[in-house]
Amino acid sequence: MVQASAPGKCILFGEHAVVYGQPAVAVAIDQRMNVGIETSEEWRIDGMRFHPERHPHVEALKQRLWEDGPPLSIKIFGEIPPASGLGSSAALSVAASAALRCARGRQLIDDDWAEGWTAARPNNVYEGPWEFVMGDSLEVGAKAVDVDECAILSHAVEAVAQGGKASPLDSSTCSHGGCIVLSDKVESDLNWLYSRNLNDVSWEVHSIDLNIPDDVWLVVGSTGIHAPTSQQVAKVASVLEENPDRMREIETIGIISRRGIDALMKGDMEGVGRAMSENHLLLRSLGVSCSELEALITAAAPSSLGVKLTGAGGGGCMIALTRNPKETSEAIELAGGRTLISRLASPGMRVDNDENCPIWEPK
Ligand code: PMV
Repeated sequence: MVQASAPGKCILFGEHAVVYGQPAVAVAIDQRMNVGIETSEEWRIDGMRFHPERHPHVEALKQRLWEDGPPLSIKIFGEIPPASGLGSSAALSVAASAALRCARGRQLIDDDWAEGWTAARPNNVYEGPWEFVMGDSLEVGAKAVDVDECAILSHAVEAVAQGGKASPLDSSTCSHGGCIVLSDKVESDLNWLYSRNLNDVSWEVHSIDLNIPDDVWLVVGSTGIHAPTSQQVAKVASVLEENPDRMREIETIGIISRRGIDALMKGDMEGVGRAMSENHLLLRSLGVSCSELEALITAAAPSSLGVKLTGAGGGGCMIALTRNPKETSEAIELAGGRTLISRLASPGMRVDNDENCPIWEPK
């Protein structure tokens, strides 16, 4: 079985403000999604018949990478809870793109790519149709897999699954791993990776080299409440519409995010924690916290360097930066949350098994 995996993510700074052009910072977490594939008599996911409408990400990837290929049996397993703002669907898409590319290999002409998608090539992955160009040789297995291609494919299929709207924050973080910063402009102090465009919106995607001491952890606490991101984004939009002066709060979140980035690069964990807690106060004032999130945040605060909601809010998850992960996690659980413990900035997409590749070659 060909197998690949990708990490989940959480947002450290800048959610909601990123919708208005401010920078957002996400880190990959230790919890991963794994995808295994092998050829089969008919299309199956986890032993059940494959229904494209139940698995829109897999269906959209199938169209881009496996158009004429034989049926596959796909196994999906992992530790990232779904629909909680931790990037489970992006991690699934990244791992599935890696597994599919690994399994079919990549056509080359004169050692250069004859097919595939990267930032350096015409970016038609969002539109199609996709032509498979036959090359004079075939790169196979893990060597055929490209981290940027996984990010771009994952962004494209997230957009399909979400009705045309998706920022590249999840797809880039789950693919590259580490720490990713999204902004509406190139940030001169950061490592610029590429631009992404979708439906007239464009983003500049950067990575940053972190300097994180070994004794610092993230504890993610889930409220178990599912609040759709679109509702929370609409809530902030209506706050700003009623009172345009409150755009200052959005700008302040941007200033705090930049301070957070500085502290992350210097390894100043107290500074990172302070910026997180300040970011949370602004999110709360914009109306995207809720009593369940506040209960978990209050419980985690005494043992943490910083605490905030992460992602869209209204439910979902909070995060605590802490040197006492056990104590912080117990406090959150006592207050009714489910917890995960992670390092900051875990490794990105990985091919875990590429034996017997390619498992199928286009004719
Ligand atoms: O919970 P998530 O990971 O979907 O994060 C949403 C982040 C927002 O800034 C609220 C929305 C967005 O599109 O950036």
